[in-house]
Amino acid sequence: MAGLLIFLHLLGAIVWMGGMAFVLFSLRPAAFAELDVPQRPRLLLASLQRFFSLVWLSIVLLLASGLGMMLPVGFAHAPLAWHAMFGIGLVMMALFAHIFFAPFMRARRAAARQEWAVVAASLQQMHTLVKANFTLGWIAIAIVSLWR
Ligand code: HEM
Repeated sequence: MAGLLIFLHLLGAIVWMGGMAFVLFSLRPAAFAELDVPQRPRLLLASLQRFFSLVWLSIVLLLASGLGMMLPVGFAHAPLAWHAMFGIGLVMMALFAHIFFAPFMRARRAAARQEWAVVAASLQQMHTLVKANFTLGWIAIAIVSLWR
């Protein structure tokens, strides 16, 4: 059971963190280098829409498996590193929910009306928040792996 929980936890973490790495370091710079408006924002929004469904699934996996490891030990007895991961994880999930329901939804509505300046501003906001989440994710992973 412990092995299965770690496996599901890693599945969620790798899909979410790997997807953010791909968007930040590959998809976004390539889209800016190769495409103009409106193809660039259209490609970015269409690919993010697909990726975000995977992120919701990863969040369910991370929360369920993370709490599945933490609850049997008990919050009072869980190591500090686990509390840190739980706290950072909750912040990442709240940030993602904000990205999804605020700038992403705004960008989609603006794209439907072809208001490309609004789409660009929303995509820029999402970029800043995704960078923050990517950094937080690596801090959480560094804490549980280095602080043993
Ligand atoms: C918010 C809910 C979360 C909870 C309750 C949670 C809890 C835990 C716990 C209890 C462990 C086991 C640590 C150990 O065995 O020493 C763990 C490991 C881990 N967590 Fe989380 N976590 C959460 C979110 C996340 C997030 C958002 C990420 C990725 C960004 C993540 C990535 C990892 C990784 C990579 C490990 C190491 C697994 C291993 O030992 O091989 N966790 N987490």
